Formats: sequence, C-alpha cells, structure tokens
Amino acid sequence: MITYNGSDLILAPLAGFGDSGMRSLCFGYGAGLCYTEMVSAKGLYYGNENTAELLKVGKDEKHTGVQLFGSDPEITEEVAGYEELKNFPVIDLNCGCPVPKVYKNGDGSALMKNPELIEKMVKGIKRAAGERLVTVKMRKGVEGKTNVKECALAAQEGGADMVTVHGRTREQMYSGGVDYDIIAEIKSILKIPLCGNGDVFDRRSYLRMKETGADYVMVARGAIGRPYVFAEIKGENPEYSVAELIKKHIEYIRFLPERTIVGTMKKQIAAYVKGIPGQKKIKEKVFAAETLEKLYATIELIGR
Ligand SMILES: Cc1cc2nc3c(=O)[nH]c(=O)nc-3n(C[C@H](O)[C@H](O)[C@H](O)COP(=O)(O)O)c2cc1C
Repeated sequence: MITYNGSDLILAPLAGFGDSGMRSLCFGYGAGLCYTEMVSAKGLYYGNENTAELLKVGKDEKHTGVQLFGSDPEITEEVAGYEELKNFPVIDLNCGCPVPKVYKNGDGSALMKNPELIEKMVKGIKRAAGERLVTVKMRKGVEGKTNVKECALAAQEGGADMVTVHGRTREQMYSGGVDYDIIAEIKSILKIPLCGNGDVFDRRSYLRMKETGADYVMVARGAIGRPYVFAEIKGENPEYSVAELIKKHIEYIRFLPERTIVGTMKKQIAAYVKGIPGQKKIKEKVFAAETLEKLYATIELIGR
C-alpha cells in the first residue's frame, strides 16, 4: 500500500498550502498519504535554508511523502539519499508543474517532453530511496500532445511504485474538463497502482474518478481551506468550526518560526473563511497582522 491506513485518499502536493498543519488536519479527516509542497532538488543540494524548511514534519503526520522537482538526475538521486529525506516514506517526482518559471528550467511538466529522462530520474531516485516508495506525478501531456502513456510507462520502467495522472495537459492549466478516459487508459496499461487527479471536490466527483479504475484518488483544490473534505468523501458528515480548525492548524505548526507561521496562516485563513459573511473584513485584518498574537485576534472575528 502506498497509503498508511487502507485509505485510498491522497492530499496533493500544494505549493504555498501543503504545510505540516494542513497535512496533519487532512490525516485527521482520513487522508492516507499527504505530500509536501514541491521542494526544489537544487535548492536542497545548494543548501537553501527556505527550501530545507519545507522538509519539517510534525508529530501528528502519519505518512507524508516529499515531492521533489528538478531535471538533473544526478542531483535528484543525491538529494533523495539525504538524511533529511529519510523521514519521508514516499518520494514523488514532479512531472506536472505548469508554472512558466519551473517549465522554462526544464522542470515539472517539461520533463514530459522527455520520457527517457523521466525513466533515468526515477531509476536514480529509486536507487537512493532503498525501502522507501517512489511515485511520479504527471499531466495528460505537454505542448498539445497527449503523451502521458509514454511518460507513465517510462516511470514504471524506472521502478516507480505509483503514477498519478492529472487529466489535463499543461496548456489547459485548470481549464476544460478532466479527461477521465485517458486516466482509465493509463490504468489499463500500468502494472503499478494509479492515482487519479483532477476536480475531486466531494463524494460524487470522487466516485466519478473511481470509475476510471484508479486505485487512489488525489485531492488538491478541494482540500484548501476544507481539510474535512476527506471525511465528506468517505460519506461522513464531519462537524467542524472554522475558528477551531484555524486554531488547530496553528497549533500543529507551532514548532516553526513565528514569521513562517504568520506567513503561512495568512493564506490559509483567507481560504478557511471563503464564503463566510464578513470575509472581506476578516481578510483585510489577517493580511495586516504581523505577529501571531495579532493573527489570533482576527480569529475571534470569525465567530464560527
Ligand atoms: C495552489 C496550488 C499549488 C499546487 N502546487 C503543486 C505542487 O507543488 N506540486 C504539484 O505536483 N502540483 C501542484 N499543484 C497541482 C495539484 O497538485 C493538482 O494536480 C491540481 O490542482 C489538480 O487537482 P484538483 O483538481 O484536485 O485541484 C498545485 C495546485 C494548486 C491549486
């Protein structure tokens, strides 16, 4: 199993959101694996402190995977062997990020232009990983081509333990519908487990994704500000208070420096209060807060 508790639900890597607090909350609501946000292999290799901070794992995290991005097979292999990565039972290679800055460097979804490179990178990470599992996350294709088939097979050939497919091309970003047929096709050709990704926001869309035959289902936007989505997907009716969720989130990341907590929570609180009456005012106060104490004071405004 890729997940720890028999759950088929996975929290996606989410740059700017997938911090230890969000991951801990998602585990509490039933996610079986949560990924870190994408971490630059080069950043770790060259000792960037901000990059290293992304590797901090809280005590309530049950089974967290680290996602690396990069395109130099020697660097990703070396980094996968670092002591700091040994806390992670799963290492993912990002082959899906569409962001121009990442793409132009040949990283993220640019790797899909070169399935042989994907295979080589996975082989290297796998060598360094030892007992740990290696997964690969990709899109339907790049530059208008649907070449996820070649890329998924290359990942499998390299020794990957699971492939995740987001059923959209790089150029689509988030527009257009998810191509469930391509996900089903990839499932039918792979020997390793497949994780389906794209537009899962509730139980209904989860069930739609499961129709592809996907072994696991990944949730990204649906979990931002809504960690309880995992319980909803399981058919439960979770009770929560937004203010309590925010407080819990902060408690989970208390071990981080205050400036990191405040920076992280500004975005998170804005997501938590989405749809709540008076959200505009709350967000203004949240964004103006410079200390944890001031941030705490804004939570009182939420009132539920
Ligand atoms: C704010 C944000 C940050 C993301 N960061 C990452 C990332 O670090 N690594 C990655 O592979 N995908 C990243 N993604 C893509 C998601 O993991 C996922 O593939 C995509 O959002 C589709 O799933 P969804 O329809 O459930 O949102 C990000 C998406 C969003 C919205």
